Amino acid sequence: MERNRWYKDMVFYQVWPRSFKDGDGDGMGDLLGVYEKLDYIKSLGCDGIWFSPIYPSPGADGGYDIADYMDIAPEFGGMEAFKKVLEGAHQRGMKIVMDLVVNHTSDEHEWFQKSRQRIEPYTDYYIWRPAREDGKLPNNWDSFFEGKAWQWDDVRGEYYLHLFAVKQPDLNMDNPLVREEVKKILRFWLDMGVDGFREDVITYISKKEGLPDDHIMPASKGMTHYNHGPHVHEYLQEFKEEVLDHYDCFTIAEAPLVSPKKALEYIDEEQGQLDMMIQFQCVSADCFLSDYYPMKFSLRRMKKAFSDWQYKLENKAWNSLYIENHDHPRIVSRYGSEAFQKESAKMLAAMYLFQKGTPFVYQGQEIGMTNWRPDSIEKYRDVQTIWNYHNTALNKTEEQRLQRQWRSARDSARTPVQWSDEKNAGFTTAETPWIEVNENYTQINVAQQEADPDSVLNFYRKAIALRKKLRCVRHGVYQEYFHASDKLYMYSMTEESQKILVVCSFSDQETKFPTPKDFDMDKAQLILCNYPDPKKNTLHPYECKVYLWK
Ligand code: GLC
Repeated sequence: MERNRWYKDMVFYQVWPRSFKDGDGDGMGDLLGVYEKLDYIKSLGCDGIWFSPIYPSPGADGGYDIADYMDIAPEFGGMEAFKKVLEGAHQRGMKIVMDLVVNHTSDEHEWFQKSRQRIEPYTDYYIWRPAREDGKLPNNWDSFFEGKAWQWDDVRGEYYLHLFAVKQPDLNMDNPLVREEVKKILRFWLDMGVDGFREDVITYISKKEGLPDDHIMPASKGMTHYNHGPHVHEYLQEFKEEVLDHYDCFTIAEAPLVSPKKALEYIDEEQGQLDMMIQFQCVSADCFLSDYYPMKFSLRRMKKAFSDWQYKLENKAWNSLYIENHDHPRIVSRYGSEAFQKESAKMLAAMYLFQKGTPFVYQGQEIGMTNWRPDSIEKYRDVQTIWNYHNTALNKTEEQRLQRQWRSARDSARTPVQWSDEKNAGFTTAETPWIEVNENYTQINVAQQEADPDSVLNFYRKAIALRKKLRCVRHGVYQEYFHASDKLYMYSMTEESQKILVVCSFSDQETKFPTPKDFDMDKAQLILCNYPDPKKNTLHPYECKVYLWK
């Protein structure tokens, strides 16, 4: 099928359904809530929604543990509510992207229940191994969420592999029957009218034969033998040729630790099997490997990440752009400043929205939500956080251990969207939401920002609308300036006669504003700024400016 790659002109909004909007008053977000807010999402200038999983699931990992791939969870409103949302989105010219989580299922999935009993054809649907002769685990791999990657199953009398939570057994993608199931799932949603997939940890689906011990990775042992595993391209090609190529859809793949060079093996527009990648480098400028190994924020690292992906994908593949999602703490609390919440939230928006690629905005990001800081571990819901709290830094004080979670936990960004200053931030009419609301909702909420032309929310709208008008963002070429600066990020996008310069200060002090050579500032038009009184030679704390030449 000839592809027009419509996703290149779009901006997506990510809905993490549990915390978006409760439409039926049970304390948890759902699709009725999404339906109510379709016009709101559209009003941001977003043309599509990526749904984190909304399938039936015991919820051991926020829905990334799927018990049935071809249905919608009753607590989210079931299939009826989904079809309404799909239709409502399409009527508004918006696309819908589903999360495809096929590295693993829930242990409550029927396939797993049958596999543990060795009922055919499910016996080899998962990765089962006996104990080693010395009674040890089958290999030394770690899981990301709960200790070692192997769990003993009494029913089957063997261990199964789980790279994530114990309740998320890994599928055996080497089994052709499992790949047939994946194709069935893809067809099911595409036939219903869904427009694409975000493919969860898709670079992990092929494990090295023999599942050898890993002696290379310092943490997350095993990655050496399953990240970009031996058959990953072959399997993705199979999904593409047999299914995806027959629909007008797109795919975006999540790929932890991927470099631009490696990414091109997947997303090169001529030869790749996928369309875009969610890389982690742009959200790792203040940590090492993951949010659980925090480091001081390095602007240079952040700039290098963004620039590398812009330069190295140019003319070869298409970038995806994001600064937040459901797996990382809030960006204002990390790269920005809570003391300059409004200014830094706007600056961070401009920082990435004018680059080449398809931007994603995560729910709540558009109002500059900040990290949640609960006063007790009991309030957390995320499996990774809870395990981490109970198993690491045990010699530290209670306060230090909690602070570590504030800084690193995924729940820091999973609290309900702050819709208003009413009870529970207007998220639910229930007495108690499924997870606590961030206490700053009376200062940071949608209702108040709707009414304020100068709000973060209205800045997002302006920035997205501008982005869409500027040909040089979609078709231009990126160039970074003053790379060595640890206060400023500056880049231009140039296309024939049109050029923009984006200037972002990451400093909480006034900063000198040097202009790059060859830019005639007298001819420039300032088209976006987060301060009412921009100055010529200095920048306010966290100021951003976008200049246009045409
Ligand atoms: C991805 C998801 C994350 C989930 C994990 C396991 O990284 O984004 O939320 O926990 O995969 O499915």
